[in-house]
Amino acid sequence: MTGAANELKGNKDFLLAPSILDADILRLSQDIKKVEDELDWIHVDVMDGHFVPNLSFGPNLVAAVRRGFPDRFIDVHIMVEPAECFVDMFTAVSPDILTVQAESTKHIHRVLQSIRAAGVRPGIAINPGTPVSAIETVLHMVDLVLVMTVNPGFGAQKFLPEAAAKLKELVRFRVVHSLGYLIEVDGGVNADNAAFLVSTGCDVLVAGSAIFKQADPARAALEIRNSAAGK
Ligand code: DX5
Ligand code: ZN
Repeated sequence: MTGAANELKGNKDFLLAPSILDADILRLSQDIKKVEDELDWIHVDVMDGHFVPNLSFGPNLVAAVRRGFPDRFIDVHIMVEPAECFVDMFTAVSPDILTVQAESTKHIHRVLQSIRAAGVRPGIAINPGTPVSAIETVLHMVDLVLVMTVNPGFGAQKFLPEAAAKLKELVRFRVVHSLGYLIEVDGGVNADNAAFLVSTGCDVLVAGSAIFKQADPARAALEIRNSAAGK
């Protein structure tokens, strides 16, 4: 691997990014602390009630997570439309990565340029119905490609295996074109499919309900980590 992937993943086989969408918002800090030993990144899902049929967090929440966990890697995934109207408010709160949905703008190239120009690593996400071919022309611009394996908008949905087929395509494209993006999978990830996902070449596993909806989130995160590592 080259570029961002090499730099961000180091010699780890995969990174685990718990999504706080399903955490207890009134006890968010405590919930994150519960899984601190197991997490690599903190995944924050931003929803606008327009691009997706749900509302979640805004830039204030990202800023609060940054203040509470200043040394942690914050992975912000915005499901908002049009993306260009939201980029500045999120780059201003200094996430480590800002990932936009390819379908959420007519001007994805410009949006990715503007994120990079603001000093934040750009990522691109694709819905289950969007093929890799739709984003090939901008893959040289991103540090992360997020493959949605559920339709975006809610936690605790069932994993869509047909969407996961795109992971291998992205691995192949990365090799052929000597690119350095990380590949992240988001939606329905759990201890049962983690090993399979890592075996396809996926670098970052996002997991929400499989961690925060469990009685013991730390144990649940460790189980995903162990199963992803083939233990
Ligand atoms: C869905 C979000 C996901 C969500 C994942 O639109 O992008 O990050 O939190 O939740 P689970 O892991 O429960 O599918
Ligand atoms: Zn997400």
